[in-house]
Amino acid sequence: MNDARRSKIILITGASSGIGKRTALALATQGHVIIMHGRNPRKTREARDWVVDRTGNHNVHARVADLSLMSEVVRFSDDIAATFDHLDVLVNNAGGQFGSVRETTAEGHEKTFAINTLAPFLLTNLLLPLLERSPSARIVTVASESYRQGGRPILDDIELERNYSMPRAYGFSKLYVWWLMRQFDARLKAAGIRNVTVNTVEPGSAVTGLQRESLRKTPWMLPLLILWLPFVRTARHGARTSVLMAADPSVEGVSGEFWGNMRRKRINAKWLSEEGERRIWEYCERVCAPYLGDAAVLVGQGEGGVPA
Ligand SMILES: NC(=O)c1ccc[n+]([C@@H]2O[C@H](COP(=O)([O-])OP(=O)(O)OC[C@H]3O[C@@H](n4cnc5c(N)ncnc54)[C@H](OP(=O)(O)O)[C@@H]3O)[C@@H](O)[C@H]2O)c1
Repeated sequence: MNDARRSKIILITGASSGIGKRTALALATQGHVIIMHGRNPRKTREARDWVVDRTGNHNVHARVADLSLMSEVVRFSDDIAATFDHLDVLVNNAGGQFGSVRETTAEGHEKTFAINTLAPFLLTNLLLPLLERSPSARIVTVASESYRQGGRPILDDIELERNYSMPRAYGFSKLYVWWLMRQFDARLKAAGIRNVTVNTVEPGSAVTGLQRESLRKTPWMLPLLILWLPFVRTARHGARTSVLMAADPSVEGVSGEFWGNMRRKRINAKWLSEEGERRIWEYCERVCAPYLGDAAVLVGQGEGGVPA
């Protein structure tokens, strides 16, 4: 069988609702082994049962972790490594959006940044050894067109202690995670690792639970959202590009790209910054250092290997 067509072991974070749940459904329908991650045990189990009932695929597993905490990301990746001997696909899909007042996690990090940026950075690093054991692995990270909404990145205040606003926090978290994935791609290539690809996707606007918390905390946004409704698609539609990049043979070997609406996206060069990528990588590397352990295969290899 063509390697791109074999059954894969696929981990999807944030699969208890919205786009992640629809991504799990579509990939389970293709017959892959699916690990559905969520933060709420009951909701995650119900989402898993929903996928099993609709697909008849019993190779669907549920796992729970609060990805706003790095300690939980470590426990979660240890759990995955203890259960599966390799991983073919990691879909970093979990994400959050919060209110107009800056909130921090129990570990002291701005919440949006912790879930949307730090968690994918740490989880991807920790799971790399497992991904490397696949003959052909893919990392797919769900960012957003909102990467532009924060304006010019504020690299001397990455966690927005002095400059917080909800649009900035969400927009920068998605810009930074995209930059990190570009770095993963460059560092993997520099390290000669050819069997792991890294791509970023954006799902378009989809009706999901994403704005639930930000709406509760900033109800004045509701009229704006209602005006936006005609342009919003279903979660199933939003999942299409994730599903394509996770398992479709047509994109085998594609790496370092940003896709949306089933196509490679044209990027305005003003959103790319080698200096910015390096600073965000170094910041995440420093913050995550106590949690990275021995699995940190790409950390610290940037200076020699990555194009400056
Ligand atoms: N919807 C859109 O229009 C849109 C547009 C661009 C990008 N995106 C991105 O698409 C991805 C999926 O979002 P969605 O729209 O499908 O929203 P959603 O329905 O709220 O799904 C988000 C998923 O992430 C999980 N999650 C949130 N915080 C978490 C935490 N601290 N720890 C672990 N899991 C956590 C949620 O768990 P619960 O089920 O417990 O809430 C849920 O499974 C996100 O990265 C989002 O930024 C969405």
